[in-house]
Amino acid sequence: ELKDNTIIVVLGASGDLAKKKTFPALFGLFRQNGFLPRDVKIVGYARTKMDKTEYHKRVTSYLKNPNDDPEITQAIQQFKDISTYISGSYEESEAFAQLNAHLEEIESHYKSPEANRLFYLALPPSVFVPAARNLKEQCYSATGVNRIIVEKPFGRDLDSSRELLSALKQHWTEDETFRIDHYLGKEMVKNLLVLRFANIAMGAAWDKNHISNVQITFKEPFGTEGRGGYFDEFGMIRDVLQNHLLQVLSILTMERPVTFSAEDVRDEKVKVLRAIPPIAREDTLLGQYVAANGKPGYLDDDTVPRNSVCPTFAATTLWIHNPRWEGVPFILKAGKALNEAKVEVRIQFKDVTQGIFEDIARNELVIRIQPSEAVYLKINTKKPGLYTSAVPTEMDLTYKRRFAEMKIPEAYEALILDALKGDHSNFVRDDELDVAWKIFTPILHWIDGKNGTPPRPAPYPYGSRGPKELEAFIQKYGFKRANES
Ligand code: BG6
Repeated sequence: ELKDNTIIVVLGASGDLAKKKTFPALFGLFRQNGFLPRDVKIVGYARTKMDKTEYHKRVTSYLKNPNDDPEITQAIQQFKDISTYISGSYEESEAFAQLNAHLEEIESHYKSPEANRLFYLALPPSVFVPAARNLKEQCYSATGVNRIIVEKPFGRDLDSSRELLSALKQHWTEDETFRIDHYLGKEMVKNLLVLRFANIAMGAAWDKNHISNVQITFKEPFGTEGRGGYFDEFGMIRDVLQNHLLQVLSILTMERPVTFSAEDVRDEKVKVLRAIPPIAREDTLLGQYVAANGKPGYLDDDTVPRNSVCPTFAATTLWIHNPRWEGVPFILKAGKALNEAKVEVRIQFKDVTQGIFEDIARNELVIRIQPSEAVYLKINTKKPGLYTSAVPTEMDLTYKRRFAEMKIPEAYEALILDALKGDHSNFVRDDELDVAWKIFTPILHWIDGKNGTPPRPAPYPYGSRGPKELEAFIQKYGFKRANES
């Protein structure tokens, strides 16, 4: 399905995203034979003027080879051989005409004339639109397939997202556009479809009759150090909840799609998201970290405006008004500068009916997205021995043990490969984005102070579990902590 003659153009080649994600992922695919098209060429584009040697030095500094593994060293050399660079602005069409001349030059060496072009926009939002326009006007191949990858932020709220989408749509069709939410490329997020729809036992308990509450949690142990300027404009809800966690929620709760085709899956996701009303203020808990344990507070960062009320922690509870989920709270929570790195889905089942056991733990199904991918089910079992008593225990599918020999692909590797194949399943469709913004826009406007004084986030110490109000918040929605025995 991959087209041998393919050029991948990375715009923003000297930026943070390209450095941390795009190039390492391209290299990861390149090293695994057959995962990049056979005659692929990779062209970097950015403002910085650099000659080929400087560019190669920079790109190789993004690729890891800590133990000087000769096989990796050789692959890096080969990766350099297929990499070239053009510098230019994002606003000027002449610069893109030069880029196009370079692409045509590459294509003239291909055996057959038609080649596909994949444009990866690793760019700040201020230049999304001019870059997309210039690419269409100057660099659009008349013979091959053209595709464009774009990445959040897709606006700040419903209106600005619609504006951005319609500006981009003037140049690129929905079919040519691949909107990344990299959580959709994560192994465990992709596994949700299999867990749910390939297991009759899971499917049977997947509703309001059996599930009490669900938490989707994102925790990072570091603050916004160095990224404060960007972060302060967006805040935790836009950074993680409205996109990554909501995507996980939609796959977790959608009805079974008719097929696994991109449109069937996304139709179901949109349908379930449409059944979620905008989040209520009282279903929200906001926090901001303060200095502790020798680490600076959010406001100590020079790039953050003084007195900023931007939340670095947010918990919001969503409700789905459909027959399967009516009344089940879905708590989405995410925070920076917490006590650990962890992303997980925790489904807490209801109590067994009373009368035979007392005070036993609820079943919980935990899907740990990272680190250390795992699925485990907390169940009660008879304590071995001559008396009958139940003990909580776990059925544990930790990937490191069960799939020890397998490498789990990076999210960006999976997604770039999908885009090269033209598979939209794990990309965000326009209407999906729209409905996601509808759920979050009112609460975001409130936090932005658009309709009065903005709420003050509760302080929490750097390295803690979050604001002290959190425990009461999740218990309010019926979460029961098992007696730790
Ligand atoms: C990004 C956010 O989208 O996701 C970051 O902008 C966050 O703030 C990152 O750190 C988390 O991604 P991952 O793959 O490390 O969980």
